[in-house]
This record gives sequence, structure tokens and C-alpha cells, in this order.
Amino acid sequence: MSGKDLLSIADLEAQDISSLIQDAIRMKAEGWSSLLGGKGLALLFEKPSLRTRVSLEMAMRQLGGETIYLSPAEVGLGERESVPDVARVLSRYVDIIAARTFSHQSITTLARYATVPVINALTDLEHPCQALSDLLTIYEKKGSLAGLSLAFIGDGSNNVARSLILASSLMGMNFRVASPAGYGVSREVLEMAQGYASLSGGKIVSTDDPRLAIEGADVIYTDVWASMGQEAEAKPRRQVFRHYQVTAKLMSLAETGAIFMHCLPAHRGWEVTGDVLESPQSVVFDQAENRLHMQKSLLAMMLAGYH
Ligand code: CP
Ligand code: NVA
Repeated sequence: MSGKDLLSIADLEAQDISSLIQDAIRMKAEGWSSLLGGKGLALLFEKPSLRTRVSLEMAMRQLGGETIYLSPAEVGLGERESVPDVARVLSRYVDIIAARTFSHQSITTLARYATVPVINALTDLEHPCQALSDLLTIYEKKGSLAGLSLAFIGDGSNNVARSLILASSLMGMNFRVASPAGYGVSREVLEMAQGYASLSGGKIVSTDDPRLAIEGADVIYTDVWASMGQEAEAKPRRQVFRHYQVTAKLMSLAETGAIFMHCLPAHRGWEVTGDVLESPQSVVFDQAENRLHMQKSLLAMMLAGYH
């Protein structure tokens, strides 16, 4: 890792991701340990969460550490108290902070003022913990990463898509993203991903045609059409994204043995049909479980210099 924090996938190199995956696989087999005994993790969340909160809390406990959860109402980040002050106070109590904020700037400010490491537990811009555990799931299911093709169908401008395109292209995967006009991966992120891909041997395709993206893909991925904080846009977005639903018909264009992934929570009948989500191709619950194993690997790397 380039610094003490994990705020973006761009903080990592391919070698870090490979080590995180290998350690996660080992820790998944090992179960509980006392590696992080005497360490404390604060979870500072401005938005709701099931997977990220519980996987981080259980990861810390399974490694012998302690966690404290601070809900949006408790801290009032930037309202009751300024972000720099919260960062400096929390750093006196705990050894690491995981924060879920609306603006990405809140987390970069938090990290700048914190004297302990900060993990991005999702911001409007990125969801690096999700992308890392997704690569673990793909590696487990397919036995490799480089050379595989991942098709992301839906909102290419959201946090999950952004972290996923960066992580996949670092690891030599081909990333094809299909989004409606105005909701694609930003030019800046495409350029970054293309830079990674030119070194790793991956290929990046951005299109508005879901069929083009999915044809022959090994992994099909989607996420909600309106992310947390975009609730007011949910209705108009259903209209904009209506041709981007992952259906059984669309899945039939993918490679034989292709897997379906979704970071969850999912909205059956909108971004994905219920039959695809419940099909044998769907690995969404293994994917959710792997959040735990990757969080353990990440905490071990950041707190114990593991790997
Ligand atoms: N996938 C994910 O991050 O889920 P939560 O929002 O429930 O944490
Ligand atoms: N893009 C979604 C991911 C939820 C885990 C959101 O930000 O709401």
C-alpha cells in the first residue's frame, strides 16, 4: 500500500491485491485467531449498512480485536463536530477507523487528520472493500483473474463500478461496462483504468449496449440504479435504466459457466430479475460472505503488517 489508508483502489498495487486475496483464502480456512488482540476499530457510518458493518465487526472480533459502532445520529460528522476534530479525537481511542460517508472529501479529510489508518467503507465515489472481496469471489469461482471478462451492466458512474473497474484492470481482467448515456464511467476513471490495463494486459470497453458488454463475459455484475443519497432520483432513473435489467435472456449471451454477481442490497424486478438472482449462476451470497474474509485480510495487513 502506498500510505496508511485505504480510501481508493488507487492506493493499492496489483501485488497488494494478490496478497490480500491469498491471505483472505488462508484466513477463511483458519477461522478465529488472536492476531489483533488489544486493537480497537471504530466504525463511523453516515449511511445504512448490513454487509459492510457486520463483516467489519465480525472480522475484527474473529481476529481478537474490539469494535465500536457510531451511527449517523451519534456523531453528526461535520455538523455536531468538524471532521478534523472527530478524526483527531477518535485517533486517541482506537487503532483504526472505518468510515462510510456521503462525500468522498469527508473521508479524505478524516484520513488527513487521523493519526491511525482509515478504511473507506463506501463513499459516493468508491467502495474499495467491495471490489476487493469481489475479486476474491471471482478468483475462488474461476481459479484466476487475468484474462477473464467482467461485464458491468447499469450505473457505471457509481461507487461500486468505479472501484471494480480500477481493481479489475489492475489485475489484468477485461472490463466491459454498459450504461445509458450520461451514466457511464467518467473519462477520468476510464483513463486511469486504461493506464492500469495497458500494464496488466486487460482491455476496457465502455458502451451503451448491454448485449455487447455481456457477450462471452465470464462474470456479469450489476448494482442498484439509484445509490444511497440518490433516493429522489429513483423514479426517473427507473425509466432511464429500463433497458439495462439483467434478465435470463441477457445472461444467455454470456460465456458458458458465467457467474452473476451483485454487491447487494438488490431490487428484484429492477436492475435484475428474481430468476437470475436465484439461479445457479448467481453467487451473490458467497460474494456477501467473502466480505468477511476480505475484511479480515485487510485489517491484518493494515494493523499487523500481515503478508
Ligand atoms: N454491499 C454492501 O456494501 O452492503 P451494505 O451497504 O449493506 O454494507
Ligand atoms: N451503489 C450502492 C452500493 C450499496 C452497497 C450505493 O451506494 O447505495
